[in-house]
Amino acid sequence: MQRSIVDLDMVRGIRVDDGRVGVTVALTVAGCPLRAEITDRVTRAVAPLEGVSGVDVDLTVMTDDERAALRTRLTGDHGQAGAAGGHQHGPGAASSNPFSDPASRTRVLGLSSGKGGVGKSSVTVNLAVALARLGHEVAVLDADVYGFSVPKMLGIGHDPVVIDGMIVPPVGHGVKVISTGFFVGDDQPVIWRGPMLHKALEQFLTDVLWGEPTFLLVDMPPGTGDVALSMAQFLPRAEMLVVTTPQPAAQRVAQRSALMARKVNLAVRGVVENMSWFTGDDAKRYPIFGAGGGQMLADDLGAPLLAQIPLVTALREGGDVGQPVTVAEPLSEASQVFDTLARHIVELGPGRISRPELRISG
Ligand SMILES: Nc1ncnc2c1ncn2[C@@H]1O[C@H](COP(=O)(O)OP(=O)(O)OP(=O)(O)O)[C@@H](O)[C@H]1O
Ligand SMILES: [Mg+2]
Repeated sequence: MQRSIVDLDMVRGIRVDDGRVGVTVALTVAGCPLRAEITDRVTRAVAPLEGVSGVDVDLTVMTDDERAALRTRLTGDHGQAGAAGGHQHGPGAASSNPFSDPASRTRVLGLSSGKGGVGKSSVTVNLAVALARLGHEVAVLDADVYGFSVPKMLGIGHDPVVIDGMIVPPVGHGVKVISTGFFVGDDQPVIWRGPMLHKALEQFLTDVLWGEPTFLLVDMPPGTGDVALSMAQFLPRAEMLVVTTPQPAAQRVAQRSALMARKVNLAVRGVVENMSWFTGDDAKRYPIFGAGGGQMLADDLGAPLLAQIPLVTALREGGDVGQPVTVAEPLSEASQVFDTLARHIVELGPGRISRPELRISG
């Protein structure tokens, strides 16, 4: 759920002086990265109202007590409350991973691939938008420390706001995002070994004000087992989707990531084949990267092939400029595939996949 600044007690005063409206908004911190956006959005909301000739937005800053109250309000409403030790402010301080709670209603979808560059992040972002379009609350955790790209793909240009140690995730195209990219400089190499990655993931899960999304999508780094191991520990009910391209070599590598997931007891729910074909001007489908890899992998894993996503220029361009194809061209072939994939995942439900080898034949 996204809250309005009125709900959050951030609007501190409204003055009307002969058509000129002054709005005072209290920011959480003086250097709040959202100051320009808040000013802009308040102005755009008020300016079109009847009789308004001008809008002035004044910004002030919350006191420590006000900020603590806000934090309590934000964390208190969705079951993260309680468990905190004596040093936290107020009763609502969150300190546990809300997704490991058996009562959590969030379905966690882990997107993995054997190798890089197969379109895992593109699939994550567009699937997230497609699920949000269906009316679900969606969050993305970009856990790909080596190639974090989700914020850019979702057009998020600022870092998260931190309120008293709790991280408020920025929202892009209706999707909440936390990325390792927010916490390391753009041009710095990321050299995180397993334990550090593990710690970072844990922190993202516990210190971020996630709310209670219906879906949390995790963009996992390609190949390595470290993140799969951490996920198995922190998100034991995560459902894995394996992304592959159609050529047999990619399929074999993808299989390793699926087997890794199985080894740590994460359910592999299905396969997504990306770059399946290019539709030419002649309306013919050209299988540029070969054909059949997705189905082969699905058969090997005993999991369904959930989608085949075509190769389209708008998908790459959309990622580069922060306008996913599902936003920029919602009726295009690729967007329809993402919509169908999203519906399919909703229909599948959270249950663990049936294992054909365990079926009793009769
Ligand atoms: N179906 C598609 N059609 C056209 N371009 C695509 C498609 N899928 C992905 N791409 C492009 O291919 C490149 C790699 O995609 P993406 O970054 O999503 O892959 P990835 O598996 O997350 O890679 P990495 O391992 O680097 O994280 C990007 O430039 C993306 O825009
Ligand atoms: Mg990626």
